[in-house]
Amino acid sequence: MSIKSEVEKWKYSNFLSNKKNNFDKSKILNILTKNDIDDAYKTISKWDNYSPTPLKNLKKLSKKLKLNQIFYKDESKRFHLKSFKALGGAYAVEKVTKGNKEIVISTATAGNHGRSVAWGAKKLGLKCKIFISEFVSEFRAEVMRSFGAEVIRVKGNYDNSLKECIKKSEQNNWQIVQDVAWQDYKLVPKLTMAGYSVMMKEIADQLNNQNISHVILQVGVGGMAAAMVAGIARYLNYVPVIILVEPESAACALESIKAEKLKKISIEKESIMGGMSCDEVSLVPWEILKNSVNHCVTVSDDYIAPTIKSLANSEFSDEKIIGGECSTPGIVSLIGLSNDSLIKEKINLNENSNVLLFGCEGDADEELYKKLLNS
Ligand SMILES: Cc1ncc(COP(=O)(O)O)c(C=O)c1O
Repeated sequence: MSIKSEVEKWKYSNFLSNKKNNFDKSKILNILTKNDIDDAYKTISKWDNYSPTPLKNLKKLSKKLKLNQIFYKDESKRFHLKSFKALGGAYAVEKVTKGNKEIVISTATAGNHGRSVAWGAKKLGLKCKIFISEFVSEFRAEVMRSFGAEVIRVKGNYDNSLKECIKKSEQNNWQIVQDVAWQDYKLVPKLTMAGYSVMMKEIADQLNNQNISHVILQVGVGGMAAAMVAGIARYLNYVPVIILVEPESAACALESIKAEKLKKISIEKESIMGGMSCDEVSLVPWEILKNSVNHCVTVSDDYIAPTIKSLANSEFSDEKIIGGECSTPGIVSLIGLSNDSLIKEKINLNENSNVLLFGCEGDADEELYKKLLNS
């Protein structure tokens, strides 16, 4: 099947180059250390049912965009949790509890992080309390309950759910396992990032000595993107062009890179890419991202459904791919950038380029996935 979507008309929303770009491997590995990264791989690769997720090739799309290759790390089958987040929260639960069965775990989540924490707590027989905002779907809440967690819904947005989580956890002496860092709370978010870095170890093996020229990384609070940058520093002996992608309504990384300091933005409208609808880059990721990123790009929600459909109908690759809402922005931004000949030249995107994208989640929210697929 050829590409039915009119991808030649797709546009990115905003683009910004980072004036402060200066990739420094030793600085990066001072923040998320080789030990942190290696320990995570050693532990997670021994978990039951561990196997690397596939690195797929979007052959039809690379032909259409006149690029050499587009690799797509497909996280839809990660431990049956359907997103890369399975690697982070569950690993942090294991590391902070150190075999203590009395600890009660708590977290706030947009969905996938909480699913991982709940799963990690269940594996270890621990009680788990999960705080969600009014924007998290009931489907996602139900999945967390199915892992034995108590799900507490909080009025308002993600920030409100996190505040309530912190308040209740202090009152009840629960151990918070959060993927976001704040002053005096950096160890656990670092552990979640170390867990995510397993993806880059697998990719380095799967690339089999082929080099990637560009990588596009989705950003919510920046944990996954920074973990991949650390993974690049740890596992690759070269540095690709690093591009961050965000929803246009939640461009906290782009605004921070522009301001050359952390910026909290106000979100006027929540993106459908719920896991990426964040108003501030987290502290630890920011320290890694601020000098290692080459460019930032933002995309509109309008292209999510067409991308989900094209993946599912094998229009981009030889096989059908189940990619959820947060799996789409890498593809959308790559198409948008490729359609802009000036930018394409500026960022060295051409027929020799091998681009790495992240299919961060599958149909983790099955109801939303079906709605977008059939829209
Ligand atoms: C499902 C999902 N949640 C969250 C995120 C954002 O990750 P982080 O908050 O670590 O930046 C992503 C990244 O693309 C994602 O796919």
